[in-house]
Amino acid sequence: MTSRTSQELAELEREAVEAIEAADSLPRLLEARSQVLGRKGTITESLRGIGAADPADRARLGRELNLAKQRIEARFADRRAALEAGARERELREHRLDVTLPGTGLRSGHLHPVTQLEREMVAFFTGLGFSIEDGPQVETDYNNFEALNFPPDHPARDMQDTFYVEGGNLLRTHTSPVQIRAMQRLEPPFRFVVTGRVYRHDFGPRSSPMFHQIEGVMVDERTSFGDLKGILYAFARQLFGARVDLRFRASYFPFTEPSAEFDVTCPNCAGAGCGTCSQSGWIEWGGCGMVHPRVLENCQIDAERYQGFAFGMGIDRAAMIRFGLPSIHVLFEPDARILEQI
Ligand code: DAH
Repeated sequence: MTSRTSQELAELEREAVEAIEAADSLPRLLEARSQVLGRKGTITESLRGIGAADPADRARLGRELNLAKQRIEARFADRRAALEAGARERELREHRLDVTLPGTGLRSGHLHPVTQLEREMVAFFTGLGFSIEDGPQVETDYNNFEALNFPPDHPARDMQDTFYVEGGNLLRTHTSPVQIRAMQRLEPPFRFVVTGRVYRHDFGPRSSPMFHQIEGVMVDERTSFGDLKGILYAFARQLFGARVDLRFRASYFPFTEPSAEFDVTCPNCAGAGCGTCSQSGWIEWGGCGMVHPRVLENCQIDAERYQGFAFGMGIDRAAMIRFGLPSIHVLFEPDARILEQI
């Protein structure tokens, strides 16, 4: 290989610098550089050829090539910096973000109205010294019925359309089986509340196959029906306002004797009669009574010495009364717009 003359080298450098300056993108710039300084680039090959050059010319050739290489590298670096700055500039311009714009706002969730009411109800009773008891939603027939004094084949079982699960267990139809679980464990005197989901094969504007109940029991040597009424009055007034009234009607439950159902004055019309209460002025709310001695005995509690009251009512029903809802299903349809209004 014959070595290049100084003039040829100057020409080579000029072309390289022109290509570098003309490159309008990073890939093109890299391409231009590799034509000169890449593995097969013109300057690289010339450098490689020095050994074969005329010994008298080697020093000159080496110096000129290295200087040219340095200058080209410098132009390349400048161009590269300029192209990269331009790219960032463009990026900033195109993705302009106005940090002073008002935000769209984070909407925070809230507890479901039934949960809110449940907590409020439990707080009322814990304030009176009641403890909290809990039990499973899949129950035995014994706890849900038999120990509560529903004999097998007793027609009272029809009052509660039961969902059975495989193996003879059932979805509890009320929170009352937790009475059994708790009373088998506790020594009188005691008082406790239970809340939770219950299930019945039932559907209507006021009934859903799944709903919530709150249940309470108080057992002592002299607990009376008067205590029960006093507590339920205080409870109703706490939930629905000082002016609500309660009405007790004699009724029947296998696990209480005597038994009563109670209604609350319709808060919508204050008892005058309206569409919400079917013109009666009253809304049915729950059941109660004195715990049947046989239920106490099923829990190894001395029914000669101890007596107590029990009550149970729907939490969803209370939510309907409190919030004036036309249907229980509003509570269970996951429409945040409706739940927010409540
Ligand atoms: N368990 C009854 C029901 O779901 C409600 C009830 C009535 C509960 C009387 C009680 C009670 O504790 O004493 O229909």
